[in-house]
Amino acid sequence: MKAVSITVPSDKSISHRAVMLASVSKGTTRIKNLLISEDIKRTIEAFQAMGVSIKKVKGKGWRVNGVGMAGLKKPSGQLYLGNSGTTMRLLPGILAGQDFEVILTGDKSLSARPMKRIAGPLIKMGATVKGEGRKVKGEVYPPLKIRGGKLKAIKYKSKIASAQVKSCILLAGLYADGITIVSEPEKSRDHTERMLAMFGCRVKGAGRRVSVDGPVELKSPGVVEIPGDISSAAFFIVAGCILPDIKIIIKNAGFNPTRTGILDILKKMGADIEVKGVGLRVKSEEPAGDIIVKSSKLKGVTISSKEVIRAIDEIPVIMVAACFAKGKTIIKGVKELRVKETDRVNSMVINLGKLGSDIRVKGETIIINGARLLHGAKVSSFGDHRTAMSMLVAGLGTKGKVIVTGLGCINKSFPSFIRLFEKLD
Ligand code: S3P
Repeated sequence: MKAVSITVPSDKSISHRAVMLASVSKGTTRIKNLLISEDIKRTIEAFQAMGVSIKKVKGKGWRVNGVGMAGLKKPSGQLYLGNSGTTMRLLPGILAGQDFEVILTGDKSLSARPMKRIAGPLIKMGATVKGEGRKVKGEVYPPLKIRGGKLKAIKYKSKIASAQVKSCILLAGLYADGITIVSEPEKSRDHTERMLAMFGCRVKGAGRRVSVDGPVELKSPGVVEIPGDISSAAFFIVAGCILPDIKIIIKNAGFNPTRTGILDILKKMGADIEVKGVGLRVKSEEPAGDIIVKSSKLKGVTISSKEVIRAIDEIPVIMVAACFAKGKTIIKGVKELRVKETDRVNSMVINLGKLGSDIRVKGETIIINGARLLHGAKVSSFGDHRTAMSMLVAGLGTKGKVIVTGLGCINKSFPSFIRLFEKLD
């Protein structure tokens, strides 16, 4: 049996939060293991443009000299956030508390992503947020023009389970007078809550309802260390399942329970997955551990909308796993996948269909009849990093080559992907 050992890059969600909170806290933060990918570069540049010193220190990670909660300076121009949805949705929470006006812009894909979900609550809190882009009644699209102001605490009931929405409101809540409460239909990833605790702000509640008592002054903990990204690990976990005669060891992946849905779903499908070290290693309030995955005989399962939330970014590669599983896989409640970097239901159904898989969509449900012999084809990344990497993984199990065009987007989250992927050869 071939054994491959890899270390996946640092977590993208946690890296964004580390840069953001370090920037507005008091004191200097050293961020160890910060992910340097296109999206994180956009977050770093945005804070640099607002006067924060963020520098790489040889052998010591990144040093951020925090300017305090209201210490950001008006940038000289617009802030370009590239393709980064997390920056576009979290940063406004902080900007809502600053005393200046700023315009956030993005690339074509980011300019087509819905922003009413954050504009609505921020306006309720007293900020001015205007969508200067596409005009569609009842929605708000970037560029976003934000004018901060004196904020008031709100009680907000979000219709969607979204960590980006929850985080944006909690960040604005740090600037408001009183208790800001966010509730959501299901608990979304809680990295903001954990990172805020590191910076001395206790977020109350641990489930679907969380709150902050503002105003809050964040204090740097000195050092923040980022664990590996389980969403990046996901491609190698599925690769290990579908390749014959292989064992893949993935070191130091994040094990935050709001993110480990991929492991539970694949185990339910019969995957041979073992985890090690979880509980022993905690990096900056975030659990981490090793994953060992071996070639597996997968079977089709039903995945509920609740399970989808804990694996929201992994559904494309789970769709790939389902194509190689015996029997039918049903994935329910996939609506949110349609408003990611691309419509991921569309991109994956078109691409997997080109390889000969039996896949269809019925409303918000995906149905896959697996274990057909798939063939090679030329497919597109649709400019979406997770579609691109999922399709490369699919190519490991097809008869004939899968050629994926537009691989540049992978640098958004996983610049070393191709190098690590070649290790599987
Ligand atoms: C993220 C939250 C998720 C996820 C995205 C990163 C975050 O989005 O899909 O890749 O860092 O908070 P939603 O909050 O829109 O579900």
